[in-house]
Amino acid sequence: MLHDPNRVYVFDTTLRDGEQVPGCQLSTPEKIEIAKALELLGVDVIEAGFPISSPGDFQSVVELSKAVKNPIICALTRANRGDIDSAVAALQYAKRPRIHTGIGSSDMHIKYKFNSTREEILARAVDAVKYAKKSVEDIEFYAEDAGRADDMFLAQMVEAVIAAGATVVNIPDTNGYCLPEQYGAKILYLKENVKNIDQAIIAVHCHNDLGLATANTIAGIVNGARQIECTINGIGERAGNTALEEVAMILKTHHSLNLHTHINSKHFSEISSMVSRMMRMPVQANKAIIGKNAFAHSSGIHQDGFLKHRENYEIMNPEDVGLNQANIILTARSGRHALKHHLERLGYTIDKINLDDVYNRFLVLADDKKEITDDDLLFLMSDGEKDPYKNGYKLNLLQVVCGDPLSPTASIKLQHDGVEKEAMAMGNGPVNATIKAITSIIGKEIDLKEFTIQAMHGGSDDVSKVNMRVSYEGKSYMGYGFSTDIVKASANAYLDAINKFL
Ligand code: KIV
Ligand code: ZN
Repeated sequence: MLHDPNRVYVFDTTLRDGEQVPGCQLSTPEKIEIAKALELLGVDVIEAGFPISSPGDFQSVVELSKAVKNPIICALTRANRGDIDSAVAALQYAKRPRIHTGIGSSDMHIKYKFNSTREEILARAVDAVKYAKKSVEDIEFYAEDAGRADDMFLAQMVEAVIAAGATVVNIPDTNGYCLPEQYGAKILYLKENVKNIDQAIIAVHCHNDLGLATANTIAGIVNGARQIECTINGIGERAGNTALEEVAMILKTHHSLNLHTHINSKHFSEISSMVSRMMRMPVQANKAIIGKNAFAHSSGIHQDGFLKHRENYEIMNPEDVGLNQANIILTARSGRHALKHHLERLGYTIDKINLDDVYNRFLVLADDKKEITDDDLLFLMSDGEKDPYKNGYKLNLLQVVCGDPLSPTASIKLQHDGVEKEAMAMGNGPVNATIKAITSIIGKEIDLKEFTIQAMHGGSDDVSKVNMRVSYEGKSYMGYGFSTDIVKASANAYLDAINKFL
């Protein structure tokens, strides 16, 4: 059934498993933008959403099906006919639709989640696949919590769903429980004990609760799986999913594995920044492949060795993941042409954006900073026209007084729906005073749960990036802001989160 036995198919679930992270919800236009970037990256399947879960998710699957041409568009369901009907309807415009249906396979799930028996669960699994197959040819079945399932029962389930028409069988380590040896052995067991296994592709879907998602994914494909399920930046529930960029670069670096994908790794840096800023989810500096420090050599011994021969301390080229060094430096004296050159290098299509508008905002930032870096440009681009909350609260004025022995006081003016409101508040620091002043205008009970400030490069003139997580009526919302002024970046991050629920 596979033309190339060494080809590994890449199934991206950033927009489904990744988007389940509290506070990381995206609008449909944002999802379309990410889906187009995934298409350019070369993924084979995009899991676009879980249509029955909400009207918004349903609509996103519809719109993504229209917007994306090459990858298969997949929709998630539980093993019931209502979910499947909804997925079939959402996929009506997809050129290559796939339904991803499934049910728990471990005794733990069978007993405590479904209050059922192995026999009953098996019958439901088979019924779901047969029912979905009437409308869509390509059916992927997931055996949830397969990591903890009994291998013999799992094999029985896999054989039954393939016989019912499943084209892909997904063996998720839903709770990130397995050790690589165990997970690899599970895949091998299925290869050796399921009679009709050659009629389907085995997929591996690993979670990172013990930090083993990538190792388990590799163990799975080494033992015969040929589809990996992963997300950009490893984003996902709890500790996340397998990071797409990690597995792709392992296969590219270790030729001895003799396995390959159709991923163009040069897009990693760009798509990683896009997902991070749209989801308001910072990437840790030491994250493999795409973290800020992934290719930074800081100790004297390493720098010396690196300069003598790059491969002494580098197993991959930064260029291979899209980290090409800029050879024209941008400053306040740079013109539109130089700015356009850099934006195109970062993957922006200039005819789609208003260069004059970006240039004006660039000059404001360049007046504050000596040199404008790629990170600065990415954040500049994420401000303004792409802001999905254009009609939300905007900061019109911010003035803070602080110092020793002054009491930190903030005066602010916010604009909303054409009306300007002002407030003043005192706090234990300038940020605290600003947050209090904003909250007094909004007039709701908002809980600030997380607050991080990152300088992008260093230097007291640097741009600060602020991420916040706020809680409102029991739900989490993420926000970010950036500015050379930490207090202004904080105010904008707070408003960004607030605009999501107001
Ligand atoms: O982790 C999991 O088991 C899942 C399934 C829905 C595939 O995400
Ligand atoms: Zn999952």
